[in-house]
Amino acid sequence: MSEEKKYLTTASGMPVGDNQNSITAGNRGPTLIQDVHLLEKLAHFNRERVPERVVHAKGAGAHGYFEVTNDVSKYTKADFLSEVGKRTPMFIRFSTVAGGELGSADTVRDPRGFAVKFYTDEGNYDLVGNNTPVFFIRDAIKFPDFIHTQKRHPQTHLKDPNMTWDFWSLSPESLHQITILHSDRGIPATLRHQNGYGSHTFKWVNKDGGEAVFIKYHFKTDQGIKNLDVDLADKLAGTNPDYHTEDLFNAIAEGNYPSWTLKVQIMSEADAKNYRYDPFDVTKVWPHSDYPLVEVGKMVLDRNPENYFAEVEQAAFSPGHFVPGIEASPDKMLQGRLFAYSDAHRYRIGANHEALPINRPIAPVNNNQRDGYMRFDGNGGSQINYEPHSVDGAPVETPENKQTPFEVSGFADSVPYDNDDHYSQPRALFREVMDAGERERLIQNFADHMSGVTQAGVVERQLENFYKVDPELAEGIAAKLDVEVPAHLKK
Ligand code: NDP
Ligand code: HEM
Repeated sequence: MSEEKKYLTTASGMPVGDNQNSITAGNRGPTLIQDVHLLEKLAHFNRERVPERVVHAKGAGAHGYFEVTNDVSKYTKADFLSEVGKRTPMFIRFSTVAGGELGSADTVRDPRGFAVKFYTDEGNYDLVGNNTPVFFIRDAIKFPDFIHTQKRHPQTHLKDPNMTWDFWSLSPESLHQITILHSDRGIPATLRHQNGYGSHTFKWVNKDGGEAVFIKYHFKTDQGIKNLDVDLADKLAGTNPDYHTEDLFNAIAEGNYPSWTLKVQIMSEADAKNYRYDPFDVTKVWPHSDYPLVEVGKMVLDRNPENYFAEVEQAAFSPGHFVPGIEASPDKMLQGRLFAYSDAHRYRIGANHEALPINRPIAPVNNNQRDGYMRFDGNGGSQINYEPHSVDGAPVETPENKQTPFEVSGFADSVPYDNDDHYSQPRALFREVMDAGERERLIQNFADHMSGVTQAGVVERQLENFYKVDPELAEGIAAKLDVEVPAHLKK
């Protein structure tokens, strides 16, 4: 076989003689089962799909690096943040959330996933955030029901505003996120022109083992915020449903590398006990006037994936992938997510998904997990697979890397959060951050979405919630829907 010419083979490496005509009995067939190349081709094709992500199915990814620009080592011992100038390779996947079935349009109104994997010397650190600083709900137990209301109706198989607004109107903790979602930022112009947020609160621990701090992550786009006009977004959804995916790929291919500046808000443990908002409630932000942004570094995307399936589809991000110096906070949603993602990955791409090239850490992996489907690395070789042991050179636990102890209190019970101010922060956004034009567009976007609601009582209940945010918001939407704000609110 000629060395220069790349020849087609079967998966077992046998050169293929004919890839156009199957082996048949004469010109008219039938086909012979001994055409093993044909059998393999058909059988493998049937197995090309892995389950799409149950949320965030449609996505685009890119490689890049993160570089530290400000010394935060007094707050965290995370090695990848240890010194100014230190660079860490990373991979990001952007996505749409609930609208995001694999073939869906990029320009729908939806939060955008902003999932970053840092390949650090101490293992992979995943920051699995969104382009919004808050979320719709604040207890993991509500997540599957919430997502059902965003997806298709069990009978009609259609998206159904009745389900969406029924759930939201009965879950007023969603008000902050739905205000952001229906604002101009609900449809970013491109994936490059949006911020990213860790949304949850996380814990940073330093090397002296002193007091931990709580932090929130903000990736600020260096391209500036740009959003899509609603009519253009609707048009693009039909004419170019992959608009955002295409824009990101082309920008990077042309050397126009997008970047984000990573900043954090930092809160002491003592403050966290007394702060006016529950710092672990993911429906709330920490106002910048209370906790200003502190710069950490810059993320630059400078390389497109070579293969979409291998890199973007098989990428597995988990909020439970921490490194020493970064830990979970008590946030109830975050705690649920610590379970949900790796479980989803085991189902979606298998028990050994961490060994796939896109997920494999650059740090050494020395665990005692062995075997399982598709174990395509060395499976730990001859190394023993248990601990404690008395074998020289075999992996041992490192007590200095234990999570930091923290105090807990309270009775174990199914208990709600101890605050129900779902209104003051969306009010600040509506009143103080948005200008008159943006307020008007917000009202229009809400009205457009709610105009599809036919289920009795839902609009009234939601208007009542909006009224508590701001009477102008509720009255503006009511006027556009040609309904009255419930009379008792006006008293
Ligand atoms: P600031 O005036 O200090 O900050 C306002 C923030 O709102 C900025 O971060 C800005 O992002 C962001 N913003 C502007 N328009 C929108 C929009 N349509 N959707 C989402 N975010 C937007 O105010 P405060 O910190 O006191 O917060 C006031 C309100 O601003 C909050 O209640 C919250 O709704 C919103 N907000 C606050 C954030 C925070 O972490 N404190 C983060 C994001 C929003 P940028 O600077 O990139 O333009
Ligand atoms: C994807 C569950 C809340 C951001 C996913 C996936 C699941 C999931 C099962 C698919 C994972 C996969 O197959 O790879 C949950 C649960 C939540 C929750 C149970 C609440 C308890 C959130 C929040 C955010 C978020 C609050 C953002 C702050 C993302 C992102 C992805 C994702 C960005 C896509 C990751 C990727 O690109 O592969 N979520 N989620 N989720 N989630 Fe969540």
